[in-house]
Amino acid sequence: MPLAYLIGDILSTKPLVKANIEKVEARMRAQANERHPDLRVALDNLLAAGGKRVRPKLVLLTGNMLGADPEKLVTLAAAIEMLHTATLVHDDLIDGSLMRRGNDTLNANWTPAATVLTGDFVFARAAKLAAETGSLTVMEEFAETLAIMVNGELTQMFDARGLASRENYYERIYAKTGSLFELSTHGAAIISPVDTEIIEKARIFGRELGTAFQIVDDILDFTGDQAAVGKPVGSDLLQGLITLPALYYIEQYPNDKQVKSLLNGHYHNEKEMAILVENIRQSNAIQLALNEAKEYASRALQSLNGQPQSEERLALESLAQYVTNRNV
Ligand code: IPE
Ligand code: IPE
Ligand code: MG
Ligand code: MG
Repeated sequence: MPLAYLIGDILSTKPLVKANIEKVEARMRAQANERHPDLRVALDNLLAAGGKRVRPKLVLLTGNMLGADPEKLVTLAAAIEMLHTATLVHDDLIDGSLMRRGNDTLNANWTPAATVLTGDFVFARAAKLAAETGSLTVMEEFAETLAIMVNGELTQMFDARGLASRENYYERIYAKTGSLFELSTHGAAIISPVDTEIIEKARIFGRELGTAFQIVDDILDFTGDQAAVGKPVGSDLLQGLITLPALYYIEQYPNDKQVKSLLNGHYHNEKEMAILVENIRQSNAIQLALNEAKEYASRALQSLNGQPQSEERLALESLAQYVTNRNV
């Protein structure tokens, strides 16, 4: 049975998670009410386009495993998915991306100004939802995570183009993905009746899982099928973004013609970058990067030791396996 199916089974059809994720969807939809009609249509379309909903599922599974109040969990899950959605609205504008979740992005049809404002509205709603959890600590972590994500986007924009450094790579992927996965599991644990050791384990689970998830996202930029992934692929190098597969390739072939072009800042050269994408795709750099993602996923798995034995814990274990086996 393909793991993509397994995850659908575990995370969608189990009555507990299904009922809750439907509540999360409803909670998010309710945020668009009584506003400017164009904004409402934009938000309806954004939410209807779906997405994997990995972060809210993480919130629900972690919180249900740890005995949190279900209503608060739904609120937190909606807050985090709204924050994710807002960052994507702005990110697609920044990156000039025209496709997301298989649909046109907002910036494909709207002016930058209207797109920015829509993103801002979604951020505002996300923050309000976070406050509605009633936890000041969650609110603080929420604000801190947003700051980390924005700082990461700025660092990537100003300092990371054409930079081949592992340290910089890991900082970037923590900022863009690890931090929000971390907030999902950490936040859920904070609002659960558990001690600090359990909260810390939950936090680590999210962080390690998010790191594995983003490495795979970066692999899919080389190997993925655009229709399945729902967003443009082969685009990281063209933006001068050197990710883990490229780092492995550069280590092995530092004198490769296209590698030199990339490192000399000529990443806008579409022909050369297309050749490099193909070379990397054919090389063992993909497998080496995947092995590294699996190490993070296995650290995530280890951090579940000591968490209550439950259906949710089993589902989290499957999730840790799914992230390195996914093709969407
Ligand atoms: C996309 O995240 C942005 C990244 C941080 C890689 P997801 O891959 O979770 O996107 P959706 O929500 O399923 O569309
Ligand atoms: C993801 O960044 C967006 C944020 C979390 C800020 P990317 O630009 O790398 O991801 P995709 O490829 O558009 O999903
Ligand atoms: Mg992008
Ligand atoms: Mg980006």
